[in-house]
Amino acid sequence: MARITSGAGTTTTAATANTGFGERFTDHMVTLRWSAEGGWSGRPELLPYGDLAFSPAMAGLHYGQVVFEGLKSHRLADGGLGTFRPDAHARRFQLSARRLAMPELPEELFLEAVDALVAADGGVLPADDPHLSLYLRPVLFATEPCLALRPAREYMFLLIAFVTGGFFSDQPDPVSVLISRDFSRAAPGGTGEAKCAGNYAGAFLAQQAAADAGCRQVVWLDPVERRWVEEMGGMNLFFVRGSGPSADVVSPPLTGTLLPGVTRDSLLTLLAGSGHTVREERISVEQWRAESEAGVITETFACGTAALVTPVGEVRDGGEGWLIGGAKPGPVTLALREALTDLHHGHAADPHGWMRLHTRPAHRSPTPSTT
Ligand code: COI
Repeated sequence: MARITSGAGTTTTAATANTGFGERFTDHMVTLRWSAEGGWSGRPELLPYGDLAFSPAMAGLHYGQVVFEGLKSHRLADGGLGTFRPDAHARRFQLSARRLAMPELPEELFLEAVDALVAADGGVLPADDPHLSLYLRPVLFATEPCLALRPAREYMFLLIAFVTGGFFSDQPDPVSVLISRDFSRAAPGGTGEAKCAGNYAGAFLAQQAAADAGCRQVVWLDPVERRWVEEMGGMNLFFVRGSGPSADVVSPPLTGTLLPGVTRDSLLTLLAGSGHTVREERISVEQWRAESEAGVITETFACGTAALVTPVGEVRDGGEGWLIGGAKPGPVTLALREALTDLHHGHAADPHGWMRLHTRPAHRSPTPSTT
């Protein structure tokens, strides 16, 4: 596996190379194990990034007890590093684990793991490229070598990281989306609100259909009536009605089949503070189309840790389609993207205490050690 080296000279080249999302990882990883007998095995351990060995009968491989998170650390204006809302991610990680009958990692151990990896590898983030961030990927999976059909009795928590410029692009380029009429992402009472690996595997075929239709992403409808817009790929959606400071902003409510996005929650808070009327309200495909064509819906955007705030420019539904806001990023989308980015980089006040500040990391990784 190729790695981004952490020496100052090579870092910038590796980090800014167009390597694709999640293809090259930093030098370290953090691990922690859990067993039914002993619970969590102490403190998170910082190790050199490397392959792991598991039993072919590992339960997670067979029955899919795998949950994960995605969060980011950013280089701050003062040269330090800050991680955006790791506590909220820790809590969602617990929610996901609970849904899959897995052990919940205590929030303080999650934060300790984040601190350890950012301290070791955060130095790979160059000071002069605000588009780059350190994407942290915590994952918890069943390691017990046992194929009994029950929750496993052994698990591993793992945290790895990579440098990314963004899921789509550094720029707010509008994406095209295909409404999936053939597939559902989630079902009532299912795992839709958990960030579990199976939700993503189950989405790939629809994502592929979107790509075959020339679209960047798939849009999911509610699984019961199949008319209410729920999510876009692994991201939440927002719709802007009207324009200017009095524009209304709507996001589909968390019905249990949607992922409760941390970015979604942050944007709802930022929007409410900016004077917009914000509602969590269902919107049907028919409304989306009619109101976009009538110029009532002026903007639609998706959000997520990886996608940040990404405008949707064109919607395809079967053989038909429509544009939103002339397929150009709208002012609310751009303002939110900037507000979030400013927060991430310490260019704006942080009244909610969302940024976890790290001590300024060295530009070279320390010798691998145990925390
Ligand atoms: C994220 O924004 O972190 C996501 O969930 C998308 C990711 C699975 C690539």
